[in-house]
Amino acid sequence: MKKLTIALSKGRLAKETLLLLKSCNVDISYVDLKSRKLIFNNDDDTLCIILVKPTDVPTYVERGVADIGVVGKDTLMEHGSNVYEMLDLGLGKCKLSIAGYKKICLEKNSDNNLRIATKYPNIIKEVYDIRGQHVDIIKLNGSVELGPLVGLTDVIFDIVESGSTLKENGLCVLEDICDISARLIVNKVSLKVKRDTIVPLIDTMKNVLEQKND
Ligand code: PRP
Repeated sequence: MKKLTIALSKGRLAKETLLLLKSCNVDISYVDLKSRKLIFNNDDDTLCIILVKPTDVPTYVERGVADIGVVGKDTLMEHGSNVYEMLDLGLGKCKLSIAGYKKICLEKNSDNNLRIATKYPNIIKEVYDIRGQHVDIIKLNGSVELGPLVGLTDVIFDIVESGSTLKENGLCVLEDICDISARLIVNKVSLKVKRDTIVPLIDTMKNVLEQKND
């Protein structure tokens, strides 16, 4: 069997993805998410799991360092990448939404462009380009909720999962833009040369997910 390398998004998604792999009879007992270790090889050296920053998963897969990756659709939409998106895993479900103080007006205002703080400038630019509305997009790398709180921006465009970050900062959803979930991506060459390993794994995942949804 050819060795398979899987890139997992560190953080929220990693635990859920490992549980899914376990349900697919993949031994993941040697992966310790509490440690600071980044690479985990199984005993017979047929599977390697690497933990990477969510936004870097497509890079590792596209470059062939990992054969398979699990990453949020938000990351794929924002950065784009030359990989196969094979499966919606239905994990890490959340929404990409515009949020801010209740009273903010999202409509076109020629004097004052709407200022938006976000980790996803490309996605929100496309949304407003289609609407023909010019907006001022400010890229932040995290804690974007601060934008409206400190007067940097009028609103934010970000992931909303439980909604507690918004609530605790006195903000609310003004408009949902799209649903997000984790996707299984595969390196294009790997799918050819490791087809015998990758395709059965994906089929098993599909069955497990179908059973879960029944
Ligand atoms: C994400 C997102 C929101 C929060 C939403 O941030 O950017 O801030 O989670 O989740 P909730 O609706 O369940 O509260 P993350 O925890 O990844 O940290 P970051 O802001 O530093 O990117």
